[in-house]
Amino acid sequence: MDIAGLPFSQACENNKQPILEVLQQELKDSKNVLEIGSGTGQHSVYFAPNLSHLQWQTSDIIANHNVIEAWHTAYPAPNLYAPLPFDLNSDLLPLSLISSQSYDAVFTANTLHIIAWPLVERLFKLVGDALPLHGKLVIYGPFNENGQYTSEGNRRFDEMLRRHNNSSGIRDKETVVTLGVTHHLALLTTQKMPANNQLLVFEKTL
Ligand SMILES: C[S@@+](CC[C@H](N)C(=O)[O-])C[C@H]1O[C@@H](n2cnc3c(N)ncnc32)[C@H](O)[C@@H]1O
Repeated sequence: MDIAGLPFSQACENNKQPILEVLQQELKDSKNVLEIGSGTGQHSVYFAPNLSHLQWQTSDIIANHNVIEAWHTAYPAPNLYAPLPFDLNSDLLPLSLISSQSYDAVFTANTLHIIAWPLVERLFKLVGDALPLHGKLVIYGPFNENGQYTSEGNRRFDEMLRRHNNSSGIRDKETVVTLGVTHHLALLTTQKMPANNQLLVFEKTL
């Protein structure tokens, strides 16, 4: 299939290998992963065949499904699954989607700075409720540290985000970590990633 003309993320192309290298380590004992906010689907078509020991379930708001499905058609993998509808804004958010599938890991990239803070809180509640003991939550993206930007590029990015939508913005890592504790998700490791991004790995502790 020709993917020319499909939405394409250069950032995904740039960060997919560094992220994969961390996932190969951090998800080596996982079996069933839910990806939240799959975007174009580019990450999923790269990760699934390179993490063949696990099942990779994509999800996003329905508006993105056609694109994700087109990428899946172009780059199919036996352990890669068509997107589930998953909108953190929806009153009808099917919690059972997460819990009935017994996911033991959740991955999300570049979502926390896009969605409003109450939706970040909702995401943590859903994931905290759904994951089993020792389940993993892996979050990739930019974070502030001690209330400070970690780079000039992140400061400009944050300003751009807030101009576009004043409920978006780079989150403080410490606040996110505290939110995790509320939902029995303890920060296990922080990996510094290229382009001033970070990858946070949480583990369900109860
Ligand atoms: C910047 S994109 C990141 C996409 C992809 N994960 C990546 O790293 O390129 C943000 C993602 O968050 C998703 N998103 C935005 N609002 C959402 C919501 N209310 N519920 C679930 N996902 C949402 C978007 O549809 C989009 O896929």
